Amino acid sequence: MRVLITGAAGRIGRKLRHEFQGRFDRLVLFDRLPITDLKESEIQFCGELTDKALLLQALDGVDAVVHLASIPHEAPMEDIIQNNVMGTWTVYELAHSAGVKRVVHGSSNHAVGFYPRSEIINESARVRPDTRYGLSKCWGEAVGQYYADKHGLKSLHIRIGNAADRPEHERSLALWISGRDLAQLVMIGIEHPAIDNTIVYGISRNARAFYDNGVAEQLGYQPLDSADDYATDILQRTGQSKEPSNENPVAQYYQGGHFCTLEFSNPETMARLNKQS
Ligand SMILES: NC(=O)c1ccc[n+]([C@@H]2O[C@H](COP(=O)([O-])OP(=O)(O)OC[C@H]3O[C@@H](n4cnc5c(N)ncnc54)[C@H](O)[C@@H]3O)[C@@H](O)[C@H]2O)c1
Repeated sequence: MRVLITGAAGRIGRKLRHEFQGRFDRLVLFDRLPITDLKESEIQFCGELTDKALLLQALDGVDAVVHLASIPHEAPMEDIIQNNVMGTWTVYELAHSAGVKRVVHGSSNHAVGFYPRSEIINESARVRPDTRYGLSKCWGEAVGQYYADKHGLKSLHIRIGNAADRPEHERSLALWISGRDLAQLVMIGIEHPAIDNTIVYGISRNARAFYDNGVAEQLGYQPLDSADDYATDILQRTGQSKEPSNENPVAQYYQGGHFCTLEFSNPETMARLNKQS
């Protein structure tokens, strides 16, 4: 099997390359940054997602695409449109024309960041993006639906929580996912026959999860790791365990944390949360 990873030079791309060693006949790595430690089964295409000629070349003979390349934080709308919106559109459009059967899309918890932390949501919750970045992930999920309905190209959208090496702060006790658990979900996205345009949450087995990840479990996901193992350490540390703006009542209230506070100006919510805190 031949699998293409976009954003392969990034943090998650590096983890997946490690987990996928020897798993596929060929891993095709696409990124604007050069990758200098290529393994025997890997080849790289270095360039922009919107370079259609290069991306088409990279897609030649590819069975599945793991689409990770994006701006992974808040940014001006022009940049989000160019990079995430147009980038994702181009990946789907060319994957379809190259005859690719599956896309695994690195979506984000920030597509639903404006749910309160007190609420457990599942994959069918309406989107509540907390940033323009989160909005671009909703777009990716909708593009996947369009290609599934229109052309039969199937997608798994993984709303990734926090894919750091280990949980570093309180919110990540709900959201953390290990490299091997994420790789397991990606494999489900590539191989499982029941994928259509399916959404799951990219989290390990975390007792404090904001999500009911039942769909992932039905697809056979059995996370091996848990943020719970780091809970005592994180909760004991004072000060250092906090995310930026974590003192802000908006960050504390919503699942999206400090992303929700960026440019936040909802007077009714602010008044309500200030009264509660
Ligand atoms: N890391 C996390 O915890 C997390 C959480 C939620 C969602 N995600 C999503 O997972 C994906 C990967 O995240 P990451 O942490 O590895 O990000 P990253 O920034 O480390 O990696 C992204 C890579 O994509 C490349 N890239 C971006 N735009 C490109 C373009 N237009 N053309 C070519 N290359 C481009 C960058 O050079 C970079 O190497 C992102 O889509 C991100 O939104 C990550």
